[in-house]
Amino acid sequence: MTRIPFIAGNWKMFKTGPEAIEFINALKPLVKDARGREVALGAPATALQAAAEAARGSSILIGAQNIYFEKEGAYTGEISGAMVQATGASFVILGHSERRQFFGDTNEWVARKLAAALDAKLIPVVCLGESLAEREKGDAFKVLSAQLQGSLASLTPARAGTLILAYEPVWAIGTGKTATKEQAQEVHVFLRAETAKLLGEDIAQKTRILYGGSVKPDNAAALLNEPDIDGALVGGAALKPDSFAQIVNF
Ligand code: 13P
Repeated sequence: MTRIPFIAGNWKMFKTGPEAIEFINALKPLVKDARGREVALGAPATALQAAAEAARGSSILIGAQNIYFEKEGAYTGEISGAMVQATGASFVILGHSERRQFFGDTNEWVARKLAAALDAKLIPVVCLGESLAEREKGDAFKVLSAQLQGSLASLTPARAGTLILAYEPVWAIGTGKTATKEQAQEVHVFLRAETAKLLGEDIAQKTRILYGGSVKPDNAAALLNEPDIDGALVGGAALKPDSFAQIVNF
């Protein structure tokens, strides 16, 4: 099974609309020869429209970093899948550890947001990851299994065709401490097997599982050459076109 690598930046709470345009215009020539991989950028809600317009005509995909699960209503401050879709964006990051940690996103909410993303025809990128304490206690696999099961609870195999998973160990995010390629590969194999139990072997083989957590130009190739690491979700190193392009062109 060939899975096309999906290399995504997650800008988090960085970049205005004009800054997003500037970044994308600088990135385009740097990744124009990148074949056999998908290039994606998760932008703040306020920059989605500008980013989608700047990316038009290129193969760069634009996505949001969160949605709310209701279609519309009195939910001050929230945005729906349809609103994201209408900007020209095509994917959404769900259940990032920062959402889980600071904004109360639970597995149950992630599952509801996943259903809403699919209703709005957005590609869902569902994030999972254990904390340092959980890893040190030997609980990483138990925690990941529960997160996967809970976060995908709303999903049937018939709707899982575009699913992307991202393994982001919390201890590796923004710390400069990357999981080793062996550590990441081991978890990706585990997550694929767990996905097979939930959605069947066929979906599990098709599902791309990204690694995130201190991915940098100098460690990207080693990670991405592992057989079950199907892409990257890049934070800090995706804030500059040069370093992000180096990762895309690994
Ligand atoms: P860093 O690449 O800055 O560690 O962030 C990873 C991440 O959280 C991507 O979603």
